[in-house]
Amino acid sequence: MNEMKVFTGTAHPELARAVTKYLGIPLGQCEVFDFSNENTFVRILENVRQRDVFVIQPFCSPVNHNIMEFLIMLDAFKRSSAGRITAVVPYYAYARTDKKDQPRVPITARLLADVLTVAGANRILTMDLHAAQIQGFFNIPVDELTALNILGDYFKKKNLSNPVVVATDIGITKRARDLAAILDAPLAIMEKRRIGNADRTETLNVIGDVAGKTAVTVDDEIDTGGSLTNTVNTLVARGASAVYSCCTHPVFSGPCRERIAGSPVKEVVVTDTIPLKDNPGGKITVLSIAPLLGEAIHRIHTGKSVGALFEQQF
Ligand code: R5P
Repeated sequence: MNEMKVFTGTAHPELARAVTKYLGIPLGQCEVFDFSNENTFVRILENVRQRDVFVIQPFCSPVNHNIMEFLIMLDAFKRSSAGRITAVVPYYAYARTDKKDQPRVPITARLLADVLTVAGANRILTMDLHAAQIQGFFNIPVDELTALNILGDYFKKKNLSNPVVVATDIGITKRARDLAAILDAPLAIMEKRRIGNADRTETLNVIGDVAGKTAVTVDDEIDTGGSLTNTVNTLVARGASAVYSCCTHPVFSGPCRERIAGSPVKEVVVTDTIPLKDNPGGKITVLSIAPLLGEAIHRIHTGKSVGALFEQQF
């Protein structure tokens, strides 16, 4: 495969810069801007003919704009005769709209897979999808990385006394079990129910023993912070001595910041798949996934195993 080139959209250039620093290459040059009529324009400022191109863009806020911008970028690379285009999407939005679980609703996670492919993506590199089955929405290769080892190593170094890992809902149980194994801790599971289509949840029950323990809650994303605050309050009410939380994707929408600041949670550990410009309540710790992403890009480019990364420390 020809020379590798890494480009970024406007959603998270800091992450792309950290990735290219890891790879020891300059960030690819391109112009990306919106005209006054909000139409997005892209021009690639270097030759990419037959090159192995990686384009980085998390689908964070403004979500629809960032997706559209990314699609336009992919189209530009395709029409510039790139040899192979890998869509690097550290955070895949719309992942929760992944099934027809009520009448007359879309499966937007699938729609997005289709449009990414039509726009020009030959491969996808992503991280901690809300549901791993979304990989199957694509007919092109998908590499899904996980931040679990990075989060786990962080908590391991803290030497928490009497830890218990808590899955914030049934869906995250498998990943919570993996984190519990890293921390050599038992597992507890929250029984959570989403109320209608609104961003509201209620916590029904805790399965497992949390009294007198240091709880570490885990989720794929923290969005409005409703699940987080319900979980933390329930754990405190059930006698947990301290509660820490972690997730891969800090979406932090709506009232999330105030909720975290006002919650008894001691620390919320997240990664930089999504840029964060503030630190609500001084409780946020951000761990970088750039070296992991950079190593995965290097391995995809050189044809080495990406699976081997799941056992490595970053
Ligand atoms: C949903 O099942 C996800 O895994 C997260 O639990 C959810 O996105 C969190 O949303 P919120 O922060 O709005 O409660």
